[in-house]
Amino acid sequence: MIGKCLFPVAGYGTRFLPATKSMPKEMLPIVNKPLVQYGVEEAIEAGMVNCALVTGRGKRAIADHFDISFELEHQIAGSSKELYLEGIRDVIEQGVFTMVRQRAMLGLGHAILSGEPLIGEQPFGVVLSDDLCLNQNGPGVLSQMAALYREFQCSIVAVQEVPMEEIDKYGVVAGVAERPGLTRVSRMVEKPPKEEAPSNLAVIGRYILTPDIFDIIRDTPPGRNGEVQLTDALQVQASAGRVLAYQFDGLRFDCGSVPGFVEATQYVYENYYGRA
Ligand code: UTP
Repeated sequence: MIGKCLFPVAGYGTRFLPATKSMPKEMLPIVNKPLVQYGVEEAIEAGMVNCALVTGRGKRAIADHFDISFELEHQIAGSSKELYLEGIRDVIEQGVFTMVRQRAMLGLGHAILSGEPLIGEQPFGVVLSDDLCLNQNGPGVLSQMAALYREFQCSIVAVQEVPMEEIDKYGVVAGVAERPGLTRVSRMVEKPPKEEAPSNLAVIGRYILTPDIFDIIRDTPPGRNGEVQLTDALQVQASAGRVLAYQFDGLRFDCGSVPGFVEATQYVYENYYGRA
């Protein structure tokens, strides 16, 4: 059973400036719920109730969101408006929230290493909450991956097929089919030009990682863009046959980009808003 999930939420969110100048990107709402809450709900559904947030400067709103707002609670107690707080109250009750700061934005690999004191020596989930994953009629993506972990006991990355024109925005995997929708990864490349991409299978923001990843990241030199890349560390595990790429059931919206954010907003409004 995987009980912990790491949320790297330290990024600057430059693609959403000026909205993200003083507000964390992860607090942008899809309809009436901030992105990070969708991710936390997905983790809790998967049994990962210990949510470890890797934050940075200017991200206090995220910590406050997962805490009681006493004045607000007091103000609306007993009124019909209490209904609006039900969802987040459930999340606060079920989840345990811990935080650590990433002191410098040195990349996703570095953000994950910064979370090591909150995770320790156990397998853990990772959610990049700007990727919104929804599976309306079945288990969430992290739940699907947790079930796979029970079977295979190795790192798992969620992947989806993307058009080759967009492949240079992603980590890309290649390997051998384990069974339909599941690939035993042998190669991982971060943001390759289209001509060098080993496949059209792009890694999205859901992972299950085994704890040896921390030592591997420690030994990983900065890669593309001078950042410590998680993809480079995963390549070490992949070379030993210890990474699976999973084509999940459900939809994923790239809410770190404006078009993906707008698409997600429309989808959630039409399919979830106002429903019990
Ligand atoms: P992105 O590549 O989306 O970067 O990071 P960003 O800064 O958030 O957004 P843009 O590109 O400037 O618009 C992917 C994820 O990794 C986290 C981000 O918070 C995001 O969830 N991250 C990235 C960190 O926590 N620390 C880092 O040093 C880099």
